[in-house]
Formats: sequence, C-alpha cells, structure tokens
Amino acid sequence: MKDFPMVFDLLNPEIIPSHVDNHIIRKLSSLRGQFYDNKAFEDMLAIEDTVIYEVYEIKRPEVAGEMLMGISIVHPGKVGQEFFMTKGHYHTILETAEVYYCMRGEGFMVMENPEGEFSIECLSPGRVLYVPPRWAHRSICTSRQDDLITFFVYPADAGHDYGTIEDRGFHKMVIEKQNSIEFIDNPKWNK
Ligand code: F6R
Ligand code: ZN
Repeated sequence: MKDFPMVFDLLNPEIIPSHVDNHIIRKLSSLRGQFYDNKAFEDMLAIEDTVIYEVYEIKRPEVAGEMLMGISIVHPGKVGQEFFMTKGHYHTILETAEVYYCMRGEGFMVMENPEGEFSIECLSPGRVLYVPPRWAHRSICTSRQDDLITFFVYPADAGHDYGTIEDRGFHKMVIEKQNSIEFIDNPKWNK
C-alpha cells in the first residue's frame, strides 16, 4: 500500500465510495442472541438468513498513526418489534474514539462504557457523532424504507472486541410499540 495522499468520492445518492477495498455483508444469523424476541428471530431465520447490514471499507495498514474509513449501511426492518442493528463492539484498544457522519436514513447509536454509563444518540442526515474512547457502539436503523447510511473514521490500530457485546448485549434495546419508538432495558444485561 502506497503512503501517498489519496482521494475518493462519496456522493449522494450513489453512496458507495468510488474506491472500496472490502465489502462486508452481515446476515441475521450473525446476530443470534442479540434481539429481545428470540422466537421472532428463529422464525425469521427459518425463512431466510436476511442481510441486515453491509460495510464498505477503505483499507490502510492497521497500525498506530493510520486511520480507517468506510461506509456502514443498516437496512430497514425489524425482528419482532425490534429494529435491525449492527452487532456492536468495543474497540480492542479501548482508548480509541470514532467519528460517524450520517448521510442518509434515520436511526440511533446505542453506546455504553465499562464504567456502566450509557447513551443513545439520534442519527439523521447531516449529523456528526463522536464516539469517545472506551464507548461500545451499535447503529440501529429506524427508517421504514431507507437504509441508515453512515461514514465512519477511526484509528487503524483500534481492533474490534465483539465478544463482550455477544455475551450480554447493550443496556438498552430499541423497539417499536404502537407506532412509537421506545428504549427498553435488556433483560440479559448484567446476568
Ligand atoms: C468500526 C465501526 C464501524 C462498524 C460498522 C459495523 O470501528 O464502528 O465501521 O464496524 O458499523 O458494525 P459492527 O462492526 O459492530 O458489526
Ligand atoms: Zn467502532
């Protein structure tokens, strides 16, 4: 990989970056145990292993000083009453932040840190979200038809710890009840 300035275009409505190194597709099966309604999850999976979200990465060496960029696309849909979402993770190097810029769609970023604090921020086009060091993060799409599309950039040596979230999820879950969005406690958290 050449150490030389580079450019790429990120244009609405095209969205897919003009330069991409890696395309990750995450399906429903990769989110087992994360949704509130496990029966709804298994029923849905029995019909199809639906694509829930996709990530387009622009690669750089995964070393200190470099930055990684990309686009995250969470598709619209629900498992039971709960909106489609990313797996969510801590960064392996906990002291690494991340910046997200929302380009399309509506949704939330659910976040929490090992100290027990949590936060939920709304995402809509034009909004920039700063995820500080030590905060795990998960994107959730609440649009009915649109994808939730965000551009992200973070230190290239951050790494990803998915295990902590796989074990207990996040404090809060985002569901729809009688046409309104609610944040409910995750019954699995802290067990
Ligand atoms: C990178 C980052 C995003 C996510 C992407 C998919 O640190 O936060 O690029 O990787 O939104 O989410 P996960 O990685 O949780 O499957
Ligand atoms: Zn991250």
